[in-house]
Amino acid sequence: QQLKLSLEQIEKGGYEHFMLKEIFEQPKSIHDTLRGRLLVEEGIIKMAGIWDNLERLNQAQKITIIACGTSWHAGLIGEYLIEEFARIPVEVEYASEFRYRNPIISEKDIVIAISQSGETADTMAAIKMAKEKGAFVYGICNVVDSSISRVTDAGSYTHAGPEIGVASTKAFTAQLTVLSLIALKLGKHNGHLSNQEFMRLITELDTIPQKVQEVLDTTHEITKEIAKNFVDAQNFLYLGRGYNFPAALEGALKLKEISYIHAEGYPAAEMKHGPIALIDENMPIVIIAPKKGHYDKIVSNVQEIKARKGKVIAVVNKGDTQVASVADYVIEFPETSECFSPIIASVPLQLLAYYIAVYRGANVDQPRNLAKSVTVE
Ligand code: AGP
Repeated sequence: QQLKLSLEQIEKGGYEHFMLKEIFEQPKSIHDTLRGRLLVEEGIIKMAGIWDNLERLNQAQKITIIACGTSWHAGLIGEYLIEEFARIPVEVEYASEFRYRNPIISEKDIVIAISQSGETADTMAAIKMAKEKGAFVYGICNVVDSSISRVTDAGSYTHAGPEIGVASTKAFTAQLTVLSLIALKLGKHNGHLSNQEFMRLITELDTIPQKVQEVLDTTHEITKEIAKNFVDAQNFLYLGRGYNFPAALEGALKLKEISYIHAEGYPAAEMKHGPIALIDENMPIVIIAPKKGHYDKIVSNVQEIKARKGKVIAVVNKGDTQVASVADYVIEFPETSECFSPIIASVPLQLLAYYIAVYRGANVDQPRNLAKSVTVE
């Protein structure tokens, strides 16, 4: 027993939990996912799985992304990326829904299956169904040689390394990294993305590991402090717009699965269609508000929340004054293109969920009722 304990300590590399270790590994896991693929000096993205199937992918009538949980959130961001840069229509579906309806899928369609474990039963069943309908299935998996990576027609691995914590962190940001590479590569080759824009975006993508390191260095202590104020919270709202709407969903999922606090993610503009009724002095609201991406609209959302006395935790770009001046708590992250901002903004949300759960005495790495890979229905 003692030997097992100390082995685990070694595996945790000095961190109290695997989740914290994995959060801190993100500069490396994103870098590893980009390595050998993003060649800025040559001005290319090298991905064999995409290159070998380029024509098929670019001529797709539509792309359907299937996944569960966090991987589904990554898929939603993938939809924004692929539609913006490659202009191919994308739908995102929960694998568990897709498999039990009769979706319109043909040989002209591409299905992208995203799974950290590569073993999720619903995703696996959805892939089988898509293949029966003649679709070409592209996998994005983390675990090498997993069932999904073997059953798909082609694919790209996320090189996040083993993820032990049940709450997915580094696998999520690695999925966003692969989806960014795919969208930019498709857009470049089908002519929807100019060379100049492509160069600007890949140059920026190359800086993401370093910006994630920066956000870890500068927000770790602050989020830990902020978390202390919310140990007894019963509900949380997470809001974001555009690319950061799915990041809000993911922030809420992280909090609920490890702290057992009820949390909901919402597009900020949808607040007035319902959730605004919940806002009072007891409602903490995490709002992701980068400078690039509907900033003025977010400012007015924050004002609406403050007028109802909600407690605002604003995740803003460095040096922000407008949102920061009205928010109760401020977490800053380095500026980047809107499309990459969820990769950086998600990191302090992971830390916030982690510390709230730790202060509540929860079993962060193995939350109740959850399994790392859901291999049964
Ligand atoms: C994430 O924090 C969850 N534990 C869960 O939603 C997970 O993302 C989901 O079960 C899908 O797993 P997969 O990526 O291994 O297919």
